[in-house]
Amino acid sequence: MNFNENLQIKSFADYKKAYQESLENPEKFWSQVANHFIWKEKWNHTLSWDFKKPEVKWFQGGKLNITENCLDRHLEKQSNKDAIIWEPNDPNEESRHITYKQLHVKVCQFANVLQNNGIKKGDRVCIYMPMIPELTVAMLACARIGAIHSIVFAGFSSHALASRINDAECKMLITANNYYRGRKSVELKEICDQALQETTTIETVIVYRRTLNPTPMKEGRDKFWFDELQHAYSDHEAEVMDAEDPLFILYTSGATGKPKGMVHTTGGYMVGTAFSFQNVFQPSKDDIYWCSADIGWITGHSYVVYGPLAAGATTIMFEGVPSYPDYNRFWEIIEKYKITQFYTVPTAIRALAKQSVSHIEKHDISSLKVLGSVGEPINAEAWHWFNDHIGKGNCPIVDTWWQTETGTIMISPIAGVTATRPTFATLPLPGVQTALMDEEGNEIEFNNQPAEGKLAIKSPWPAIARTIWNNHELYKKIYFSLYEGMYFTGDAAYRDASGNYRITGRVDDVVIVSGYNLGTATIENAINDHEKVAESAIVTFPHDIKGNALYAFVTLFNKNDASEKLKKQIKKQIANVVGPIAKPEKIQFVSDLPKTRSGKIMRRILRKIAAHQNNDLGDISTLENGDTVKKIMDNSV
Ligand code: WTA
Repeated sequence: MNFNENLQIKSFADYKKAYQESLENPEKFWSQVANHFIWKEKWNHTLSWDFKKPEVKWFQGGKLNITENCLDRHLEKQSNKDAIIWEPNDPNEESRHITYKQLHVKVCQFANVLQNNGIKKGDRVCIYMPMIPELTVAMLACARIGAIHSIVFAGFSSHALASRINDAECKMLITANNYYRGRKSVELKEICDQALQETTTIETVIVYRRTLNPTPMKEGRDKFWFDELQHAYSDHEAEVMDAEDPLFILYTSGATGKPKGMVHTTGGYMVGTAFSFQNVFQPSKDDIYWCSADIGWITGHSYVVYGPLAAGATTIMFEGVPSYPDYNRFWEIIEKYKITQFYTVPTAIRALAKQSVSHIEKHDISSLKVLGSVGEPINAEAWHWFNDHIGKGNCPIVDTWWQTETGTIMISPIAGVTATRPTFATLPLPGVQTALMDEEGNEIEFNNQPAEGKLAIKSPWPAIARTIWNNHELYKKIYFSLYEGMYFTGDAAYRDASGNYRITGRVDDVVIVSGYNLGTATIENAINDHEKVAESAIVTFPHDIKGNALYAFVTLFNKNDASEKLKKQIKKQIANVVGPIAKPEKIQFVSDLPKTRSGKIMRRILRKIAAHQNNDLGDISTLENGDTVKKIMDNSV
């Protein structure tokens, strides 16, 4: 492939060619991409891998710092271009424009703050912050000195924060005192203080004062961001990192009930995020790109921060929510900054589609060129609404399928290059060798016939997570043991006669609610911790805005305890242990859960009951306690 300076594929014939080359000779293909970046030393071995171990190494021997590629590299040609435009929660507060030159200074200065506080290469730093530019500064400063950042979504509870700090043994916590999300004030520092009662490894807490609210500070441990900047130089020599040195840990839900710390490394992740960003979204030089995801999730890591900055783009950071002060907000932002690429989640699209179109009509959103969707399947109705009302039939919709584990977009149209098809993520990007597996675990070869099965990947791509922090065995078990020599995604998919994929949903104990990836076991554990609860099962049912909503079936030690008050307590408990996003929409107290003879909860049946598909329960003859099913059905909510 002869790439242009943006690494962009511009025609479907070129996509076909690139795809072919990337599978025939991945080393050659990805070396050509990697050559576009600054390396302090070139790699001597492009790829070594063994999915049986499993082990994947890209660009071995290569030395680099990702922040030199995201910042320093752009200073010569575009130092005054906006790197970040920040839109605050409150539209009356002033927005901030931060150029590449300014961001470079901020990152260098904060890198010195980290080092002044004893943080070294390889140390873990937890970041728990709202969507403000300082979050990006903190993460890039970690990368600058080679510390491993572990960002925890600021909507998570103190307990969730503590368990992540403990798992990664973080030495430092970076947070803000308080912030507003819509009308709601969040006392972030107080949540941190609660979390820190359950942890032992944090030596320093750095607090950014986002609002004038009072901030509880602990002498000797807690320091204000601005005070620290007072004695930090603004130049900084970037640490020399190996391509395979860890860049960050990001926790995702797991079937075991304990979140898994996915570990991403430096070289492959950089090459993969930049390449996929350039191709899927096809940005031009003066475009203004907006991904509405929070940086606390992988979408924010890869497509608010690393991908766009590695590509030298202008990225929008939005602190608020689509409904505040009202449902005009997204369209107002698009008009205000003349957004060209807008990447969001189906949940937001469905919520916005429920509002009057007059909200949209009031705004000039004609700057838009490309629309994107991520995080869960986009249903046909939402797809068409997005296409008709927002894209006005002129903007390709890139429905991007990928995961925290994959690091980068895997299956997606390339804007303007791949023909889109409603509800389909379409075709794998170059380097992504997909396989559809049947019930027996055999690959369903592509023969121009539609097929359905579980989705696996046959060979490594540069940004694949290399392991689970401190638990390589679990990494092997979850992703590499179902199909020998392949990565198992946990998703099912349908493939049409042209090879386009539609992702149909999870086939494991992970559930996707409003695009958030949640583990049923984590939520069940939170419910079971209530002293009155004996056992519980969480399933999802279709919901017209959230996509899926949670339904909890709960058994009690004493059935007389069943009450609305107890339901409220259970919800509160889930909010405290996991976070408000995991609160179930419905709770039903049942005397017994349907179980197989080996004692496994039959979620398949509970899912049907939750969806009110009582005529379609399938075979229940294998149940240990078949009569409970009818009782549950009769009392379903
Ligand atoms: C789901 C988010 C259908 C899928 C980037 C996957 C999707 C899980 C899509 C990963 C899509 C993500 N269509 N389903 N375009 N994108 N998913 O780790 O089930 O938060 O396995 O990463 O979200 O969620 P995660």
